[in-house]
Amino acid sequence: MDYAGYLKLRELLSIQELESGKRGTPAHDEMLFIVIHQTYELWFKQILHELDLIQDIFGGKAVDDAALGRAVHSAERIVKIEQLLVSQIDILETMTPMDFLEFRNLLMPSSGFQSEQFRLLEVRLGLKREARLAFNDESFDASLDPGARGRVRGQEAKPSLRDQIDDWLSRTPFVDQGGFHFRDAYAKALDAMLSQDMGQIRTHPHLSQAEKDVQLASLQKSRAMFDGLLDDARYAELHAQGAWTFSRRALQAALFLFLYRDEPAANAGFRMLKALMDMDETLALWRMRHALMVSRMLGRKVGTGGSSGYDYLRATADKHRAYNDLFAIATFLIPRSALPPLPDDVRKAMRYRYEA
Ligand code: HEM
Repeated sequence: MDYAGYLKLRELLSIQELESGKRGTPAHDEMLFIVIHQTYELWFKQILHELDLIQDIFGGKAVDDAALGRAVHSAERIVKIEQLLVSQIDILETMTPMDFLEFRNLLMPSSGFQSEQFRLLEVRLGLKREARLAFNDESFDASLDPGARGRVRGQEAKPSLRDQIDDWLSRTPFVDQGGFHFRDAYAKALDAMLSQDMGQIRTHPHLSQAEKDVQLASLQKSRAMFDGLLDDARYAELHAQGAWTFSRRALQAALFLFLYRDEPAANAGFRMLKALMDMDETLALWRMRHALMVSRMLGRKVGTGGSSGYDYLRATADKHRAYNDLFAIATFLIPRSALPPLPDDVRKAMRYRYEA
């Protein structure tokens, strides 16, 4: 066993074959293009490996406390890897569009659309087929080879991490415990805060009546959105419109974890949700950076995979998000000082206590 043997460097370093070289017209930047793509695929492999661990933990009937810490750790690692993937674009952008043109035609019709690992990653994080943007009336997996397509479809048939998180949140204790019902206590606190805000607007010395009306209407709208979390019928309507995708119980539990994250029993859950939001945001950032890079490389040319290129890719940054609901919950956060206090029995159940 030695360094090169363990890492299989002989094999690894011999698989950068320049297509332009084979044609007798070596293009200097094709090496960079290949190395960058290969490293991306290696990091995708690592992300999928971390997801194996996270999904094993959330796939069971209950999530063990110690295991939750490990899941958070892996999720935070995925975020760090994604940040690296975003910054790798800086290196690729040292290749100019003209340098790229030296070998671009030799790659046809291969395209990022054929990355099986990227599709697996999206599916496992929770992006659903029906939520995807259509391009050229083709399904998103049409360009994959039949073997890869079968594996991606097999993955779609299994619960995604998002599905598992929904189940896990729905089982959160404390939200309804003894006589305590979080949603009732919270609705009261929210109403108290909103009526205080309304009072301030109505008596504001520097606002015109028209300005006051606009601000009051906006507060009423926030309250109506919150009803979506309290009221079954209103939630069902919003869910049918796609405004919420998580179950109502899961959303309430997520709100509870965000608000009471200082309580020890809520802290790891809160960190998990935060890592999921970081993951979602960083992936969206990668999509946006990739789209901008594509626009400077190709201008308005179509992609080698047949999409409109920049327009399609930019739109995915906005639409291909699996955890939008967690972001929307910020609408309902209130300051710590306005939080309804937890009843003693709930608070005690959520804290650690060491007896001498
Ligand atoms: C010069 C550099 C690059 C150009 C010009 C480029 C161009 C494109 C274009 C035009 C598409 C849309 C599909 C199509 O019509 O072909 C696409 C998709 C994609 N590219 Fe790139 N790309 C580049 C670098 C990369 C790199 C380094 C990666 C890293 C793995 C990558 C991964 C992907 C993925 C995963 C997709 C599918 C995205 C989706 O459907 O949401 N690309 N690329």
